[in-house]
Amino acid sequence: MSAFTVAILVGSLRQGSTNRMLAEALIAAAPADVQATIVEGLDQVPFYHEEIDAPNPVPAPAQALRAAIADADAVVIATPEHNGSMSAVIKNAIDWASRPFGQGALVGKPLAVIGTAHGQYGGVWAQNDARKVAGIAGATVIEEPELAVPDSEAAFAAVPPQQNTELMGKLAALLAALRAA
Ligand SMILES: Cc1cc2nc3c(=O)[nH]c(=O)nc-3n(C[C@H](O)[C@H](O)[C@H](O)COP(=O)(O)O)c2cc1C
Repeated sequence: MSAFTVAILVGSLRQGSTNRMLAEALIAAAPADVQATIVEGLDQVPFYHEEIDAPNPVPAPAQALRAAIADADAVVIATPEHNGSMSAVIKNAIDWASRPFGQGALVGKPLAVIGTAHGQYGGVWAQNDARKVAGIAGATVIEEPELAVPDSEAAFAAVPPQQNTELMGKLAALLAALRAA
């Protein structure tokens, strides 16, 4: 049986990103028959507008993003919280993947949202917004389980995510829910 594939969109571009660390933990938590991969190059995807979309030539990084989502069985978004919502990186990625209207790469795609923030609530506003927006874009959003890591910089410095058995169990459960969807 071929592997269940998951494309992970990481909403923070910084090298020390705790959301990237969480995404890497998700990859490590995956069973052998689940292949999860971070979609690289989101920093190269221009801000969406219709004049750089079909029928005009589509920028290669945007094409690559659409292809990575279309080719995957499911999508996971790992987003930081910026001023109470998802990062612009994630919003832009969703906008690209929502077009052509009704036929975007996200349409019908099982999708879960996770994330970390340095604040005490773990970026739940950002994650709720990402669920709403991805749903409007046509994804089949998995509302449960939620996975928000608060105070992530200190938490991951104290215990790296891949050494946190409870967190790894939650990530594995999230993948199982995504697969069931
Ligand atoms: C522009 C900006 C706005 C932010 N707004 C929030 C916020 O509304 N809530 C919050 O918990 N953290 C906020 N933060 C701090 C983020 O939690 C933190 O930068 C980010 O989640 C870290 O993610 P990363 O480690 O993956 O880069 C903000 C950070 C920036 C740069």
